[in-house]
Amino acid sequence: MNTLMSSSRAVQVLVAITLVSSCMDKEGAGADKNGGGRGDNRYTMDHHSHARPEEAVITHLHLDIAVDPAERTIMGTATYRIAGAEHGRIILDTDDIRVESVTDQAGAPLQFELGDSTILGRPLEVALKPTTASIAITYRTGRNAKALQWLSPQQTADKEHPFLFTQGQAILTRTWIPVQDSPGIRFTYDATVRVPKELMAVMSAINPQERSSDGVYHFKQERPIPAYLIALAVGDIVFKPVDERTGVYAERSVVDKAAWEFADMGDMLRAAEDLYGPYRWGRYDVIVLPPSFPFGGMENPCLTFATPTILAGDRTLTSLVAHELAHSWSGNLVTNATWNDFWLNEGFTVYFEGRISEAIYGPDYAGMLQQLGRQDLESTLAQIAKSKHPEDSKLRLALAGRDPDDGMTDVAYEKGAAFLRLVESKVGRAKFDAFVRQYFDAFAFQSMTTDRFLSYLDSELLAPNKVSLNIAEWIDGEGLPTNAPTPVSDRFVKVEAEIKRWENGARPQELATKEWSTFEWMHFLRHLPKELAEDRLKELDKAFGFTNSGNAEVLAAWFEVCIRNDHDPAFGRLDDFLATVGRRKFLVPLYAEMIRTEKGRIMAQTIYKNARPNYHSVSVRTIDELLSWKDDHPPVNF
Ligand code: BES
Ligand code: ZN
Repeated sequence: MNTLMSSSRAVQVLVAITLVSSCMDKEGAGADKNGGGRGDNRYTMDHHSHARPEEAVITHLHLDIAVDPAERTIMGTATYRIAGAEHGRIILDTDDIRVESVTDQAGAPLQFELGDSTILGRPLEVALKPTTASIAITYRTGRNAKALQWLSPQQTADKEHPFLFTQGQAILTRTWIPVQDSPGIRFTYDATVRVPKELMAVMSAINPQERSSDGVYHFKQERPIPAYLIALAVGDIVFKPVDERTGVYAERSVVDKAAWEFADMGDMLRAAEDLYGPYRWGRYDVIVLPPSFPFGGMENPCLTFATPTILAGDRTLTSLVAHELAHSWSGNLVTNATWNDFWLNEGFTVYFEGRISEAIYGPDYAGMLQQLGRQDLESTLAQIAKSKHPEDSKLRLALAGRDPDDGMTDVAYEKGAAFLRLVESKVGRAKFDAFVRQYFDAFAFQSMTTDRFLSYLDSELLAPNKVSLNIAEWIDGEGLPTNAPTPVSDRFVKVEAEIKRWENGARPQELATKEWSTFEWMHFLRHLPKELAEDRLKELDKAFGFTNSGNAEVLAAWFEVCIRNDHDPAFGRLDDFLATVGRRKFLVPLYAEMIRTEKGRIMAQTIYKNARPNYHSVSVRTIDELLSWKDDHPPVNF
């Protein structure tokens, strides 16, 4: 999620626009998905991939790679079964990848050509014979492969071994595997991954739970998935079960804490199935990564990747697991056809996450979550309205020619969920739930466009119940329509009353904070008066120990208050936090708050210079832009 826009890519953008406009019409010319999926599902033009799946398309990947942490490279062979060889060529996506050879099923070389580099990377065009059944691409990744973050032992929890993780969404898988990298193209995969013996590898697939003696690991993903959901993590990790179907992977010193924090995973999974039908992916595990992971979580199939900043020690931040689990239906089972339809992934998932949280933790918890979401949405909408791209506040995006990451904001999440809550309020929960379940069944393992969803919604739910709605305003209008349901939370009303009491002279110790969860503390910190005198901040910190909090959400909200009011006793801890935590959701508001003053700008530059090497490329890209950072020594590829 990113609300910042680029000003420096104008030239690349022009190249990309010219390139895609010559590719194909809005709807592809016809091949069934997966070379013969279900009926009328056509490929949709994806402006963020060079692939032309209506010609030749990949149907299965066999990946055979070696991971070399010392050289920071992955090398090996990606072998694809393909359909549509009669079209004479297949086009894949690559970015910063060196292709060494391409051969067919008999080992005979095939001609290939790499096109020019744009924000989409370089197309790899391979010439096919009508008899070509599979292609094997031997390659190695570059030093700058944007999906990969290579960590030194020092950057891990246990500090003894290196670590690697990948982040594919939105268009980064092409930086570590040459692939048709479009969310509308699905394929199954299996993989052989060779790692140094002292490390273990896990993927978005059925995973080992034990170490192998030789560092060779085998994986199988038997459900067809899009390329952005292929993921790999390598490190000194161990597994601990939570129940029969769920468990956690993490470094040794983290795994027990993680298993305790996520004790409700099995219940969440059952709650999700009770709502919207069977879980179709076998196991559901979570891997807790080192703190530089740029997101809260990533819904890699069978194995959610998660930040350690949700290990609050009190199970209050596990709604993130509910969110990533919900993606096993919304996103991984029914997938946005293009990044313009991103709200179909995230809006549904936020809605579904809320329902899982409500089932497990009750309506109070879910209400607070909704209110925090609405607060985030309102500040994002205010930012977007004054940005270069006010149209980014629409649910249906128009991201052609831009990095899709730039358009992936809270709008898709919170406006998307608000739209679904509105529909629910019109037809009632029972009918809405039956509709959603039927939707996931009807389109399982397929991709979905906004138009297709709207016509299904109308024919299956709205028309039969004679409901009419301002759909065009919701989908193609900017801002938040006035009929958005307003989230309510009694518990937050109580927090606001305590803030008032403090403002009117009550001492912090007298406030009724005993039962507060992380969410109440976040609301408290977000709603303090904007300007606070030094003694007031000291008083709060003394009573509540914010600066020394082990809860990343509380810390981040507190740091915002401190930066705004130049409260330097917190700055040492802020510096440490930013040097280790790479989660973009925390970085953006903190750096943005700092650069509002000249003194703060200098502090931001100093902190960032030190912290930047610890961040993943997606966070680096965002913060570079925010701070207008010039990289003096960009690493050279190959
Ligand atoms: N799929 C997203 C993460 C993502 C979005 C990666 C866009 C790349 C591009 C994931 O499901 C997500 O939404 N994560 C949130 C957590 C959530 C509880 C809102 C995050 O990372 O903060
Ligand atoms: Zn999500």
